[in-house]
Amino acid sequence: MTRKILISALFLFAAMAFGQQYGGMWIPTELNEKEMKDLGMKISAKDIFDPNKASIKDAVVQFDGGCTAEVISPKGLLLTNHHCGYDNIQAHSTVENDLLTNGFWAKDMSGELPNPGVTVDFVTDIKEVTAQILLGTENLAGPDLTKKINENIETYKKTQKTETYQTISVKPMYYGNKFYAYVIETFKDIRLVGAPPSAIGKYGSDTDNWVWPRHTGDFSMFRIYADKNNKPAEYSKDNIPYTPKHFLPISLKDKKENDFTFVFGFPGRTTEYLPAIAVEKIMTEIDPAMIAVRDVALKTLDEKMRTNAATKIQYASKYARVANYWKKWIGEVEGLKKSNAVEKKKQYEQMLISKNPAIKTTIDQLNQKYNEQAPYNLHRAYYSEILRNSETFLLANIYSTYIQNYEAGKADAKYLETLKTRLSEIYKDYDAELDAKVTAKILALYANKTPTQFLPKDFQLLKDVNKNLAMFETISKMSLITGRGNMNGTKAADLNKLFSDQKALIENLKKDPFVEMFTTFKNSYLATTDDKVTALQADIDALQKKFMAQQMETDKERKFFPDANSTLRVTYGQVKGSEPRDAVTYGYQTHLSGVMEKYVPGDYEFDLPKKLITLYNTKDFGIYKDKSGDVPVNFTATNHTTGGNSGSPALDAYGNLIGLNFDRQWEGTMSDINYDPKLCRNIMVDTKYILFVIDKYADAKWLLNEMKIVK
Ligand code: ARG
Ligand code: GLU
Repeated sequence: MTRKILISALFLFAAMAFGQQYGGMWIPTELNEKEMKDLGMKISAKDIFDPNKASIKDAVVQFDGGCTAEVISPKGLLLTNHHCGYDNIQAHSTVENDLLTNGFWAKDMSGELPNPGVTVDFVTDIKEVTAQILLGTENLAGPDLTKKINENIETYKKTQKTETYQTISVKPMYYGNKFYAYVIETFKDIRLVGAPPSAIGKYGSDTDNWVWPRHTGDFSMFRIYADKNNKPAEYSKDNIPYTPKHFLPISLKDKKENDFTFVFGFPGRTTEYLPAIAVEKIMTEIDPAMIAVRDVALKTLDEKMRTNAATKIQYASKYARVANYWKKWIGEVEGLKKSNAVEKKKQYEQMLISKNPAIKTTIDQLNQKYNEQAPYNLHRAYYSEILRNSETFLLANIYSTYIQNYEAGKADAKYLETLKTRLSEIYKDYDAELDAKVTAKILALYANKTPTQFLPKDFQLLKDVNKNLAMFETISKMSLITGRGNMNGTKAADLNKLFSDQKALIENLKKDPFVEMFTTFKNSYLATTDDKVTALQADIDALQKKFMAQQMETDKERKFFPDANSTLRVTYGQVKGSEPRDAVTYGYQTHLSGVMEKYVPGDYEFDLPKKLITLYNTKDFGIYKDKSGDVPVNFTATNHTTGGNSGSPALDAYGNLIGLNFDRQWEGTMSDINYDPKLCRNIMVDTKYILFVIDKYADAKWLLNEMKIVK
């Protein structure tokens, strides 16, 4: 008996080590059913994805082109993250009723709020179409190859019969070695049903972002509406709640370490098959450059946001967006170092070469191209980070494009309308004085870090931060585009006035010191860098395609999955804590008591709603506590996830919903490049916490009544 247990434990360990060594984001029609079952799955691959009958796929959608969401009731109720619904929650907010601060709970269906433009996509079929798409491309390369592939894709799409609400999308996999076609159904009437206040939904904000142990109730709820025939339709008040082919039952069972779990969703982008040289450049050059620019920008914003309430509101969302990837890259660099990624990749390359000597040529060429591209690519990283972090340069960019369009006779009424809308959106939350500081500082960094061959003329003069600060403050007061000079304001009326005499405007813009400075910056980048990066990237892409094919042909032991590309994927693993550092052990589950431990009254990240505190103090946990007597809040597992997996359902062995994916732990954010089972964990909101908040905090029992709850 003991022996039997030992053997099966060993077997399980082997299966784990085999399957999880490299992570995996699997195409749902090509699942490792056996390994999933060995890990504990009780359903079949067909229960997850079957094009011909209702399966779990019918409950998983791409939410508004980015995040993932899932259907959790027979009436089309959708669950996704708070940070995925954020913009919509914000759009329904007013000064008198800020739904981000207060939360929102529709009293019944008539109280649900429409969100024009928001879509959800179901994937109803997936087919491999490599043969059709690569037909007649055998002897082609470069632009001819791309052209032929695009023609074949168009031809393929024409041969497919689709309904008006369906589209076909063909996506390359394995760097163009394979192609898959997706049938997609798009629903367009999506209404906001509920959201907790940010103090729950975004609890811990930037400080806790990417961090475990975590205590965030990152969820919000929407509903899909359809026409009378249950088909997708534009918004109409006559539309009815959508009846899905499948919806996810919600499990309230306690979680145990090593429980099987899988995550089903739309991961955005990963690069797991790069050569060592590429990983080295990311780790030692590209990430550090992007981090450095953001360090300076964020620090400058933070100084003012901490002391000025208006600035805090204006910049909160921008700050969060910039800080999100800044923090991710810091974790990524650390994790790549710690997991010894470059050395591991080099050894892997040697192993491949020992089996197939031809691979040496590919690696040598990749090394040569990456080294040649490196200085240009680094310059590109600085350039794009400056554009992303300086609103003044962003405005200058928009205005200089306008000058070009005006002079080319392309600035018609429609163009001007779009332009003015875009500008007024930027000006609305733009603090010219603050941004002048940011711009002054990041340009000083740029001037100091950029080799002379790339530095635009006159930019040598920008190396001294203090001089920059004084100069930019002065210019900012004169500049037309900062809105503080002649324009003097940020309202639509001002923009109409500004654009009423376009000839004069163009003349003034051409003389504007920021527009001039930006034009020098951009033209210099275009002249020295842009073409070089692009041309070398095309060479690298062709080599990477070859290297990918060689890895797949040569390494027979490894089970390959295509890098994430925003298509539907399944990743699986086990509920698990981790040991990320010497003497540091993370448990897999956090609780409401931990939410309370972090509570800082009045803090902008760690304040809590009174009602939640009362529920905690009176231990009013209902059926939502676990056997410890506390309410589980977040948990971690070994699922291999990335951006885009936000809002993805985490399911148990039976396909019941047990959690809502929303983050990864910091020590494992290098999983986009080098998944390491020891360090990489995804973070989910526990379904018990979600239902606890809906029931006890929001008192929205009518929503619970729609759901199927498994106890
Ligand atoms: N780190 C998570 C994801 O990329 C959550 C981001 C939203 N939360 C935040 N505090 N910015 O992308
Ligand atoms: N928060 C991420 C998102 O918005 C998911 C976390 C990750 O990158 O793993 O998609």
